[in-house]
Amino acid sequence: MNVYDSSRMADVMKALGFEQTSDPQEADVIIFNTCHIREKASEKIFSELGRFKPLKKQRQAQGRDLILIVAGCVVQAESAEFMDRAKFVDIALGPQTYHRLPEMLRRLEHQRQQRLMDVDFPAIAKFDSLPSANAQGVSSFLAIQEGCDRFCSYCVVPYTRGAEYSRPMREILTEAQQLADSGTKDLMLLGQNVNAWHGEDDDGNPSDLSRLIEKVARIDGIERIRYVTSYPSDFTDDMIKMHRDIPKVMPYLHLPVQSGSDRILKKMNRRYTVTQYEDIVLKLREACPEIALSSDFIVGFPDENDCDFEQTMDLVKRVGFAQSYSFKFSPRPGTPAAAMKAQIPEEVKTKRLEALQSVLIEQHAQYNALFLGKEISVLLESKAKKEGVLLGHSPQMQNVTVKADESLLGQIVRVRITKTAATTLDGILQE
Ligand code: 5AD
Ligand code: SF4
Repeated sequence: MNVYDSSRMADVMKALGFEQTSDPQEADVIIFNTCHIREKASEKIFSELGRFKPLKKQRQAQGRDLILIVAGCVVQAESAEFMDRAKFVDIALGPQTYHRLPEMLRRLEHQRQQRLMDVDFPAIAKFDSLPSANAQGVSSFLAIQEGCDRFCSYCVVPYTRGAEYSRPMREILTEAQQLADSGTKDLMLLGQNVNAWHGEDDDGNPSDLSRLIEKVARIDGIERIRYVTSYPSDFTDDMIKMHRDIPKVMPYLHLPVQSGSDRILKKMNRRYTVTQYEDIVLKLREACPEIALSSDFIVGFPDENDCDFEQTMDLVKRVGFAQSYSFKFSPRPGTPAAAMKAQIPEEVKTKRLEALQSVLIEQHAQYNALFLGKEISVLLESKAKKEGVLLGHSPQMQNVTVKADESLLGQIVRVRITKTAATTLDGILQE
């Protein structure tokens, strides 16, 4: 979501006449977009800002300026103290107000000494005021839903991104069309709880995510559709059918389970059981046998004992994941879990994470090994560091490297897989 927000901020700046640069020496404005989901987020931004202090001073000595802007959830979460701590920052804004950047830059221009902060949750959604979207490459993100009402006990999102909000279907389809027109072939629909998306079609019929995706799939130029992140108990049978029936919907699903222990899931305020999760997996695999599953895991949640952790390991072994993300529980200020008794010692968290990750990495490697010798379709998205090699993704979202000419960037090509590892497939181009 932050990558998407950054690209939308770039759209806003572009409309003001700015151009993007990857060289800070060249920049008139630097925007830091921050994430608060797990620990060390604010330390990271303050140390990063420290690196730019000399550049700002140097500019000021030359009678020019360098405008430093910090955006995102760290600002939202630490609003009261943020400006006091970040003395060199000119503008600080939360994730819901970046559409107001033009107005803030104008105010800054008129009152040079002013420092501005905006952490509102405005009644009129920011999406209404954003300029048209530019493709972020052949693969683009599109936010369709934001915020969350689930309140998992460990999570800051409901506090930093606010209440759940679904963008209207018409607005989403317009943005998807703009992205397709500017070169997007692969579209990732985003939402913190993406399958909570709901809206109405042009005839006023109530629609859910599966109906929305059906419409997105009709847009010429969009060839691959994915969506992230799904919440298990909101994952309906219609979504399962959609995976079976719409070829543009890629056989990949990120469905975070977090823990394999019902006791811990309850403490996390995740409203499903392990059995319910596995039922969804079973039905999905029946409907779409080639689907690749990915998940998030948290280890060392308060009061997690060895038995709970073993249940997570067992679940992993039963389900088999193609990809995954796993984290040590990180107490976030203001969330219920941060205040729970029986916090788990750091060494225990580290041990559990290592044990879990070694099983998961082995699983990813085994999953990828199934593709050895197979011919698959790959969307070539970027150049690899190595000369003459391009990077892309398979339908199952695996990273694929292939020797190919640059002129093929942006094309979907056939590739025969010659080598596999836990995080990549290597292949050769087929005629
Ligand atoms: N501690 C550790 N992991 C967390 N996540 C969210 N909040 C926390 C936290 N406090 C993880 C969850 C979520 C992913 C985006 O980040 O696994 O699915
Ligand atoms: Fe956070 Fe996801 Fe739970 Fe919402 S559903 S509170 S975003 S973990």
